Amino acid sequence: MKKPKKPARPAARARTPAPRGVLISFEGSEGSGKSTQIAHLAEHLQLVGRAVVSTREPGGTEIGEQVRNIIVHNSRGDEMCAETELLLFAASRAQLVREIIAPNLLKGVIVLCDRYIDSSTVYQGVARNLSRDPVQQINQFAVGNVLPDLTIVLDVPTGVSLSRINQRASDLPNRMERENIDFYKKVRDGYLVLARSLPRRFFVVDGTLPEDKICRLIWAEVKKRLGV
Ligand code: TYD
Repeated sequence: MKKPKKPARPAARARTPAPRGVLISFEGSEGSGKSTQIAHLAEHLQLVGRAVVSTREPGGTEIGEQVRNIIVHNSRGDEMCAETELLLFAASRAQLVREIIAPNLLKGVIVLCDRYIDSSTVYQGVARNLSRDPVQQINQFAVGNVLPDLTIVLDVPTGVSLSRINQRASDLPNRMERENIDFYKKVRDGYLVLARSLPRRFFVVDGTLPEDKICRLIWAEVKKRLGV
């Protein structure tokens, strides 16, 4: 008896490569101009047809915004120990990664994040003097393998940063903004040391240059490094 013919295999579906999202984090001390430059970069990316989501830390999700409130506006904030602060930032970040960043990267979106893991490395690790290893481990636990493809540091001298905080139109400086000049010097140096140790991921821009010049430098770097 003749063997029944095997059903023809469906033609292999043409494979289009899944779009790859990109995560770009912005770092720098207070008043370094991150949010302005994030808005400019988002606009450039949208003009070349890329989908963009901008977010911020701490916050960016409903839960994260509540955590942010505890960190920066809590009336008992001065009693908060550095370990608690580190864990709260990490909690906000863990939520942001799972709720916003990772799902958007999967869809091929470019995610711009105002602060990310390096803020904890520098503010809690360097400026608050917590040991490096636990800070790294907690960062890693919070974000898993969702690491930035590019990190842009807006570098401004400490004096400039402090005077920009004081000139802000909004009300009183928050808890983090009330730190002393030594704290901010450590923050600035912390970023520069970190950037030097990871030159493939970091791009440092002089944050005292005119706004449009900074914007052009960042756009050129994003195009060069990420081919967008
Ligand atoms: P925010 O008002 O968002 O400041 P900025 O506009 O400068 O980003 O307040 C966030 C503060 O929290 C800021 O002082 C930096 C600090 N911070 C840390 O200390 N560790 C962290 O991990 C993060 C994300 C922020």
